[in-house]
Amino acid sequence: MLPDLHHGMNIDKSLDDNARSRFVMTLRGYVLNDVANQMRDTYEREVAPQAASNMTGANLDGDDVHDALLDEPIFKFYSSIRYNAQEMCHRAVIPAIDREHDNLKARAEALDGTPTRTGSLTLDPSLDVPNYVEGIDVHLMPGSYVTGEAEGDLRAGSIYDNAISVFAFGQMGDQMDDIGQSMSKFVRHIYPDFNPQKILDVGCTIGHNTLPWAQEYPDADVHAVDVAAPLLRYAHARAQSMAVPVHFHQQSGEALQFEDESFDVVFSSMFLHELPRAAIKNFMKEVHRVLRPGGLLLNMELPPNNHMHAYDQFFLDWDSHYNNEPFYKNFRDMDSKALCAEAGFETSTFFDAAVPQYTLISPERFEELLVLNPDAETLGKTGVLARDTCHRYAFGAWK
Ligand SMILES: C[S@@+](CC[C@H](N)C(=O)[O-])C[C@H]1O[C@@H](n2cnc3c(N)ncnc32)[C@H](O)[C@@H]1O
Repeated sequence: MLPDLHHGMNIDKSLDDNARSRFVMTLRGYVLNDVANQMRDTYEREVAPQAASNMTGANLDGDDVHDALLDEPIFKFYSSIRYNAQEMCHRAVIPAIDREHDNLKARAEALDGTPTRTGSLTLDPSLDVPNYVEGIDVHLMPGSYVTGEAEGDLRAGSIYDNAISVFAFGQMGDQMDDIGQSMSKFVRHIYPDFNPQKILDVGCTIGHNTLPWAQEYPDADVHAVDVAAPLLRYAHARAQSMAVPVHFHQQSGEALQFEDESFDVVFSSMFLHELPRAAIKNFMKEVHRVLRPGGLLLNMELPPNNHMHAYDQFFLDWDSHYNNEPFYKNFRDMDSKALCAEAGFETSTFFDAAVPQYTLISPERFEELLVLNPDAETLGKTGVLARDTCHRYAFGAWK
């Protein structure tokens, strides 16, 4: 299957572009299935017994598994293919985006002026983009989220959208919005009487997981923030082309420009693990400030390490070492409940959840598989592909 975008910011791709994308998708499938399984077998058969005997009775964790595998040829093979496949997700799509960029800009301008669409874009050229965003090529994306800071440039948004559709090989829904759909449906199902009127998504990137909130709660006023202007220009054009009203703002989640007690929901997805510890704490305090009493914080994130098998800890934390995600493991080692409490949320309102992928299964099966406050065993399996879906980890609290 070829990754095509189903909205008005799609780009024309040549046969060569498509061949590159198809090759990278296949390579990722190979490394994440065949090679990964072989690495796990090698670990269990040859490495684990040896590692455990060297540890004189201590429990192994992900770091120990990583240390024990470092010199194994299968680990080097896996790591080099995965690293290169990750770079290739971007390289596969960039030539088409370079060719089409003027056309994309023209389309974005026309969509901005479309009077029947009611979303908006507010940029702040004076915002200091944090070094943890522009100082490294986050998950090996060339130029990070800020490629093309020139007026009107939306290259980074298009690279992200097209590369993630290669990266996901069909696992994220037609609009790459499975997380947003799953999380908004989760809230609707678990809290049927909750009727939010104002919703905020922080670290929204191209708004792919923001729009499902506006679709699930069409009466709500939906806002989204990110620090990167090229992403937001693209996010706004994409949303306008789909006629979904969202207000995009260039702001930092560490210092939101919204009034106290002004939102019913603050949502984030795959955001916290890209922040250093101090920034996570600043964000959580800001969430507590802008939520109304009775409001909901919901973070969809990587699963915590504490209930996970040592091998799974190592497998997920690979990105922290080799995928330019320096804060990834740091976040996974944190305690979600303590984070909420420190930000001012009552401990009794804390919850976590294992949420299946809505776009991969039927609505009935989604409701059947959802788990609020999962036990340690279920928590330990979040983030790992099971029979027909992967359960994603989410946590939050009520103000
Ligand atoms: C991995 S992406 C999040 C992806 C998206 N929410 C999703 O569901 O796939 C992290 C995003 O957070 C943004 N970001 C990083 N630091 C930020 C901050 N302090 N405030 C707002 N956005 C930030 C980045 O620019 C990037 O777009």
